[in-house]
Amino acid sequence: MTSPNAALQIDDLHKSFGGLHVIQGVNFTVAPGERRLLLGPNGAGKTTLFNLIAGDLKPTAGQIRLADEDVSDLPTFRRAARGIGRTFQILTLFSRESVIGNVIMALLGGRSQRWKPYGAVAKDPALRREALDVLARVRLDTLADRPVAETSYGEKRRLEIAMALAQAPRILLLDEPLAGLSKEERGTVSALLAELPRDLTILMIEHDMDVALAFAEKIALLHYGRLIVDGTREEVIADPRTREAYLAQ
Ligand SMILES: Nc1ncnc2c1ncn2[C@@H]1O[C@H](COP(=O)(O)OP(=O)(O)OP(=O)(O)O)[C@@H](O)[C@H]1O
Ligand SMILES: [Mg+2]
Repeated sequence: MTSPNAALQIDDLHKSFGGLHVIQGVNFTVAPGERRLLLGPNGAGKTTLFNLIAGDLKPTAGQIRLADEDVSDLPTFRRAARGIGRTFQILTLFSRESVIGNVIMALLGGRSQRWKPYGAVAKDPALRREALDVLARVRLDTLADRPVAETSYGEKRRLEIAMALAQAPRILLLDEPLAGLSKEERGTVSALLAELPRDLTILMIEHDMDVALAFAEKIALLHYGRLIVDGTREEVIADPRTREAYLAQ
């Protein structure tokens, strides 16, 4: 059934890699503005689910709706244009470019200017200002001209979030944004995530339970490609299946 007000709705989604049935009939609805956490043990299929939502993988069966539009057959760039933004579990930055250069490329991603020579476009003061505004949201504006190769791991993680934000998504998919960060960096990233505007819907995969639980209002637990628990934070924590499948790891 279609929920008329859902930001994202997934119906009976399946994905197999050869004989490996990684996503096994997932049904899932995310309301506009919601902060939803996707939990699950290693190999449960969480990143695969993100790849299916973003369009990097084609489902074997099932449907994905973004704000009432069926996007199941759209390629990644068209889904991005309709408002799906994401970060990756493994960083995908242009490390020879500057911090601001990466954001400018992300800003250009959806615009006609991208066909002009990059060197000329990158000097455009309006574009630079816009990129600095995005960098300020992740507290990287003071490092704008530093080559990415010379930034810390935590700064690279924040830059990746900036690049996703640059495309003004309606729904943001964050794949373990805190993985590998120091305690201090985790604090910085969770604070900036908490500041993101409520018209942005966020779906986050995260293993750091303290940060994740502080962030999420609703939680879905994926186990061997099935959502075995899906509800409010309190419901999911109280459910014995959560302990069995996840916390006992
Ligand atoms: N392109 C692929 N081809 C074949 N198998 C794949 C592919 N991508 C993922 N898998 C398999 O699908 C299963 C789920 O992988 P996935 O990366 O989605 O898990 P995950 O829940 O994100 O795990 P983690 O917590 O370790 O990131 C794993 O068994 C993985 O080996
Ligand atoms: Mg993963």
